[in-house]
Amino acid sequence: MQIKFLKKRKLFKLETEHTSYLFRIGPAGELRHVWYGGKIDDDAMVDELAERRGPSSFSPHPEGLRPENSLDVLPLEYSAYGSGDYRITASALRKENGTITTSTVYRSHKISKGKKTLPGLPASFAPGKDSMTLEITMTDGFSGAEIILSYSLFTDSDAIARSVRVSNPTRKVIAIEKLLSAQLDFHHDDFDAVYLKGMWAKERQAVRRHLAPGIQSFFSSRGSTGHQYNPGIVLAEPSATEKTGDVYGMLLLYSGNYIVEAECSQFGTLRTVIGINPENFEWKLAPGETFYAPEALLFFSDEGLGGLSRTSHKFIMDHVIRSPWAHRKRPVLINNWEATYFDFDKEKIYSIAKSASELGVEMLVLDDGWFGGRNNDRSSLGDWFVNREKLGNLAVLVRKINRLGMKFGLWFEPEMISENSELYRRHPEWVLCVPEGRRSIGRNQMVLDMSRKDVVDYLFDTISAVLHSANIEYVKWDMNRNLTEVYSRLLPPDRQKETSHRYVLGVYELHERLLKEFPDLLIEGCSGGGGRFDAGMLYYVPQIWCSDDTDALERVSIQLGTSLFYPSASMGAHVSVCPNHQTRRTVSFSMRGHIALGGTFGYELDITKLTPEEKDLVREQIRNYHAWNDLVREGDFYRLTEGFGRSNTAAWSWVSADRKSVLVTAVRKVSEPCGINPSFHLRLRGLDPDAVYQFDDGRRAHGRTLMNAGIPVPNARTDGFSIIFRLKAVKKNR
Ligand code: GLA
Repeated sequence: MQIKFLKKRKLFKLETEHTSYLFRIGPAGELRHVWYGGKIDDDAMVDELAERRGPSSFSPHPEGLRPENSLDVLPLEYSAYGSGDYRITASALRKENGTITTSTVYRSHKISKGKKTLPGLPASFAPGKDSMTLEITMTDGFSGAEIILSYSLFTDSDAIARSVRVSNPTRKVIAIEKLLSAQLDFHHDDFDAVYLKGMWAKERQAVRRHLAPGIQSFFSSRGSTGHQYNPGIVLAEPSATEKTGDVYGMLLLYSGNYIVEAECSQFGTLRTVIGINPENFEWKLAPGETFYAPEALLFFSDEGLGGLSRTSHKFIMDHVIRSPWAHRKRPVLINNWEATYFDFDKEKIYSIAKSASELGVEMLVLDDGWFGGRNNDRSSLGDWFVNREKLGNLAVLVRKINRLGMKFGLWFEPEMISENSELYRRHPEWVLCVPEGRRSIGRNQMVLDMSRKDVVDYLFDTISAVLHSANIEYVKWDMNRNLTEVYSRLLPPDRQKETSHRYVLGVYELHERLLKEFPDLLIEGCSGGGGRFDAGMLYYVPQIWCSDDTDALERVSIQLGTSLFYPSASMGAHVSVCPNHQTRRTVSFSMRGHIALGGTFGYELDITKLTPEEKDLVREQIRNYHAWNDLVREGDFYRLTEGFGRSNTAAWSWVSADRKSVLVTAVRKVSEPCGINPSFHLRLRGLDPDAVYQFDDGRRAHGRTLMNAGIPVPNARTDGFSIIFRLKAVKKNR
């Protein structure tokens, strides 16, 4: 890793182990993007790239310069609205006189060791000697604001972390209308975009499509990341596969309203941006204040989509998830939700814990319904005190469960409030709603105004009181509806557009305070399943419930889609009962286990009702979990088939860093008629070609044979077929 400024050539050179990122200062002080991708180092060639002229165009250009210097035609590092760049721009600042014309002109820069945190926001981290940062201060000649671009590099990763902040050194208020986190310009637009779309119970389905002229965008305006899209995009050369080709990724560390846009310009160039969604956003920056935009990560790999995912996984594991649990094996849990829904008491919970402990389960998680008077989803959110009628003294119950050798975890939905709750009766003004009174309801509940300090204080006090009252070692933090009628009573009219971002800052603040109070607490994020699965959340929680859809067949594309950016160790995955509660489908108990073993692993069913055969399978699955989880958590992940699990057959694997241990899963979702595709050939990846690998049944083969010829996966004549097997390198044999 190195960052250099070549003064004569006005060139910034950022180099990770396998990538170069170059930009230079142009004649009008604009930062011109020169190159991002695989390593390049010949000065003459770099200069040629840097001097590449823009095409002449109809668009105006900075005074005193030639027409080919129009900002509309140049690849830029960070664009601004209003001076002739008509593409999507990254920033727009409004002055008191109403103009939003903004400029981003280089003023100075600083290269330093280490990487700073971002106040109030998630940010990737690394010890001082393992990272370095370039900060470039740009001036907006119109408002006088300083726009500071930050680029951090890491010794052990090809990722680049970018962020932007704006400071107001003037005596006047500056309104930030738009401040995106990163922009990436390319001199051509021949890319496929790969991104994640979804809905409740079908989150993060990977889609791939060729970019077309014009703007393509996806975003959230729901107040949180949402089930519908995910705040990241991959740009792949059209021939790129899982294994080969140049691919770029942009991923935002943010859990609120975001936007991702790609614009193929009139000249066939591409601009991509990522950051806070500017719709209904504005931030008033008083003199002396600084605003921080969330961090964005950039990835590049010349080893296709698989290479990019592995870079992202490792980076998130080592530099984003800050929980002490990041690299720890998580306890095998059983969650009572699908077993009981709201209908439980302490006897029922204890009986689930007891049966589970006999089979090797290590933690009981008590889901929704333990607090206030909550017996259905129409009441009590906000009343975070134990329902003694149902549970008696919680500490006593937890002690009993601990005596079974099990840990105990509890569900909360901190950001929500029910109309029928003591909290609402005391503080109706804490609800996020417009003064006109009309409001929308989602799952019978309303959203708390998390931008308010008193709300965050109340939640911290009540939640920590419960957590202190008993030995609670895990929390499931849920969030079951989107924001509507976004208005905060405490903010003046001209600051209302700050509310959504302040909401997210409030959520982060609550996380921060709880983690300070309970540093070892294992928190699992959740939002109606996987509606807030993002790298911002992973800074606070090491795992997130992937989806309310626990059907093993559906989970294949959900979990493989999620793996575009996110590591296996971050994916909450459970074995649930069949017929499945979401799809009514029945698949074998063993397949359910094979899929859930690819995530954090646990159960979500009434374990007291399992047949003896199923109980044996639970014991076996838990044994396998303990044997394999190091590999699943820490190994390199390979999608062995194209299409992110959306076709009928899919396979994936984890390979240990020393390539000696491999775990492979393959599935065929529905059986196919005899004679058609009777078997599919599974070619493994990432093995040592010279090593001899042994299957559990004693068969042996060289790494090269397994990678080149592969192994046939049989066609069982049944829907929902899966196998999982392990290979171990036994010797090197040339
Ligand atoms: C959400 C979660 C579920 C469960 C319920 C409880 O839907 O995704 O796992 O916790 O809430 O109400």
